[in-house]
Amino acid sequence: MNTEYLQFNEYGLKTAGELIRKGELVAFPTETVYGLGANAYDVSAVKSTFTAKGRPSDNPLIVHIYDKKQIGEIAREISSDAEKVIDVLLPDSLTVVLPKKDSVDSCITAGLDTVAIRMPKSVEARAFLKAANVPVTAPSANISGRPSPTAWQRVKEDMDGKIAAVLCGSPCDVGIESTVLDLSREQPLILRPGAVTAERISDVLCKTVNVLNDPNSKVNSPGVRYKHYAPKIPMVLNVDGNADKLCGYYDELVKQGLRPVLLVEKPSLYGLRSVKSIGDTDEEVARNLFENLRLLEEKYDYIIASFSSKTPFAQSILNRLVRSAGHNLI
Ligand code: TXA
Ligand code: MG
Repeated sequence: MNTEYLQFNEYGLKTAGELIRKGELVAFPTETVYGLGANAYDVSAVKSTFTAKGRPSDNPLIVHIYDKKQIGEIAREISSDAEKVIDVLLPDSLTVVLPKKDSVDSCITAGLDTVAIRMPKSVEARAFLKAANVPVTAPSANISGRPSPTAWQRVKEDMDGKIAAVLCGSPCDVGIESTVLDLSREQPLILRPGAVTAERISDVLCKTVNVLNDPNSKVNSPGVRYKHYAPKIPMVLNVDGNADKLCGYYDELVKQGLRPVLLVEKPSLYGLRSVKSIGDTDEEVARNLFENLRLLEEKYDYIIASFSSKTPFAQSILNRLVRSAGHNLI
């Protein structure tokens, strides 16, 4: 298949919308990561998403909308908590899980009785969704298991020849995927942490919001079980910012004939070793995280990462870093 690279303009949007309605796959920008869009009402289009990504079919997809009115088409029931979250917090980098309507096919929800719904904050994303004029399923537009793409050029690396088009918008501002909040249960639960933190949601709901932290739990977000965000080269992670320990680890790898790189908070502490800044603020770390992993895997053969920020948002970033490192903490 010849993948079309559409510029983000009126023609590009119109073409992207038409392709979605015809049952084709179109990658598009959002503020979190690029998504791989399909018409949620077209079962064969939705199914082709799993093939293009090499994604297990038991990992459900998020349905994307541009207008809150569309929620009623997809969700069977909106609790008072859900109503508050939708009113106050959407649109943002937040996905809400609600009881699904029968019209939502089980290939979207992997057989669950709930559906994940997201209204992006990104103006570009909403312009695309409006042009599509149907609810759009979209996982991150990467090959399953790889770091999510935060620029259209990274979508091209993974998806060229496999999908009809890429809508080439801006690089993603947030850089990690949306918070997934399950509102279908008695007690709200964050299944995947993101930029919208438990604290912010708690403030809106005036109740405690917990974050799921057992990746093997059977309930909840099936996606958290899989290998995720992994660069092609080995990676380890340090969370206490101990530069001596990191240098020791680096020097040992060099002795073994490897070419490691440090992805760290204070690059000046590492002398003449190969080093890249992970970012100066949480926002910067998140924005560049997946791009950094994809850049470094091209030039080196081992990533030694360090991130010691302890803010609520840092916990969401850490969730991705730990998985990228395959839980190898040093
Ligand atoms: O920021 C994002 O959410 C991006 C952009 C493209 O919007 N999308 C994204 O999709 O990250 P994906 O497929 O890579 O991750 C979707 C997550 C998975 O962890 C999946 O298991 C969970 O949402 N999910 C989807 N439907 C669910 C449901 N009904 N119940 C629980 N978890 C669900
Ligand atoms: Mg993903």
